[in-house]
Amino acid sequence: MNIKDLENLKDGQQVIELTGWVDNIRDHGGLTFVDLRDFTGLIQLVFDKSGDVDTKLKNEFYISINGSFKKRDEALINDKILFGDYEIEVTDLIIINQSKTLPFQIEDSIETDENIRLKYRYLDLRRQPMKVNIMARSNTFKSIRSIMNQLNIFEIDTPTLIKSTPEGAKDFLVPSRKSPSNFYALPQSPQMYKQLFMMSGFPNYYQIAKCYRDEDSRKDRQPEFTQLDLEFSDASPELVKSKVEEIVKFVFSDAYDCKIKTPFNTLTYEEAINFYGTDKPDLRIEEKIFDITDIFTETSINFLNDILSSQGSIKALHTKELLTRKQIDDLDTEIKELGSNGLGWFKIEDTTISGPLAKLLNDNEKSKLLSYGPGTLLFQAGIIKEIANYLDVIRRTVFQPLNNDVYSFVWIEDFPFFEVEDGELQPSHHPFTSPKSNEIFKDDPTNATALHYDLVLNGVELGSGSQRINNPEIQNLVLEKWGLSKEQISERFGWFIEALSYGTPVHAGFAIGIDRLIAEVLNQPSIRDVIPFPKTQSGLDPLTNAPANIEEEVLEEYNLKYINKDE
Ligand code: AMO
Repeated sequence: MNIKDLENLKDGQQVIELTGWVDNIRDHGGLTFVDLRDFTGLIQLVFDKSGDVDTKLKNEFYISINGSFKKRDEALINDKILFGDYEIEVTDLIIINQSKTLPFQIEDSIETDENIRLKYRYLDLRRQPMKVNIMARSNTFKSIRSIMNQLNIFEIDTPTLIKSTPEGAKDFLVPSRKSPSNFYALPQSPQMYKQLFMMSGFPNYYQIAKCYRDEDSRKDRQPEFTQLDLEFSDASPELVKSKVEEIVKFVFSDAYDCKIKTPFNTLTYEEAINFYGTDKPDLRIEEKIFDITDIFTETSINFLNDILSSQGSIKALHTKELLTRKQIDDLDTEIKELGSNGLGWFKIEDTTISGPLAKLLNDNEKSKLLSYGPGTLLFQAGIIKEIANYLDVIRRTVFQPLNNDVYSFVWIEDFPFFEVEDGELQPSHHPFTSPKSNEIFKDDPTNATALHYDLVLNGVELGSGSQRINNPEIQNLVLEKWGLSKEQISERFGWFIEALSYGTPVHAGFAIGIDRLIAEVLNQPSIRDVIPFPKTQSGLDPLTNAPANIEEEVLEEYNLKYINKDE
């Protein structure tokens, strides 16, 4: 029997073989009170002194009891817990298993270092807030499967020992003993396999897929994470987006009991960068970036002149608050660390403007700035792509969401096909994404846009997808423009281009980061809090000590040898 079943008992009835953990022991004169906890709840047990339970039992012992279910005296009712008006007078006790002294208490709020929590994750997961998170995860999976069945989308699995799939990160590699010196890669996503399903004639697909990316962990990134992965034949971005909206709406209602409005708003990439400084805007924050270039066309502020004459612009945010010198200095330091030349600012009071550049303003500039009204005007000057990130940080630091309890979804589309990373072109999504216009892509790939769409929730990139290339020549062209040689294309993607060459339907798809979804819904600080056994920031598992050293004899079987780079 479990604690929830007690609901069916009446005062004085027998409780048989109730099992659970000792949550708390309190000694009160002639009686010992023990809170018993199981998956379903908590109930107070009462022992009389004759059994010496206060010396026999300790926290987290796993016990089984028989007893009688009794209404508590009016004065002793605790209405904060489920069975706060009842208790069990114990007649028999069996200690099923003892517990060592705990590394931390099984309590809702603990200040234990996260590494220790992860080392003893099985104890951490006994805590109620973690139980809530993991059950939200379980309910998410259940709801996903339910809506997928309703929509008749097929759950099909894909292999995890594969040849590399490019998603922009480094691969985790798995050496092959049978084929020494060769490696499998773990999938960064099932991207190419789900496209193969479309080529194989399955009209749709989904999978709750494990993905592996050897990149630095952050609060919303793990080396191993879970996607709801989707693909549809004969599909357009509109079809995929409407399916995703239907799925997300269902999961919110079914798993989180929360009604959300669809269809979601859409912004182009350019609008997102211009108004919010990021392609992941948090639209719960109302304030937008605006352009003040026109005010300074005849300025005597030299650095602004230089920037304007090299095609730059001046972008600003205005807060009604008169920020303190400390707030301004902190923000200045923060954006300088990211690469900005510094924070430009003017404090505007009724008829005066102050700030380090105020004395250089002419009357025309002053009157235009005064028209924004009292407060602080913060600005960055330069090429929008280069200053966007600083403006995003300013916006998110100075302004707060109007309402933290809403879910603000927005689609972002019309991404540039390529972005420049460390001086090299990278597809802004992946190289299987269809250009919006093949003609423009052929002529000027660096200025082409992609049929790529992201879904953003409260400033977090929740998911991403695209229309796929279904023509082998275009696929080849995209890989070429990406900078791959003929040999590299043939060696890495030859098999895929071959597969595209046998009558491939038009197809498109999407993937939602499930860990990010749950963390956002539960308002958790990191996705580590909603993953049962996550890795630390440095990619380690303190519980099992993975990754671990492999003995040299074992490595030999794989034809591998350690080399110490420092020697
Ligand atoms: P993408 O790489 O954008 O697209 O990933 C889709 C979503 O997966 C989540 N995500 C992550 N979550 C946790 N930790 C990570 N390291 C991590 N990386 C990504 C994000 C992201 O939006 N194959 C394509 C999808 C497609 O085109 O269909 C893909 O994987 O929420």
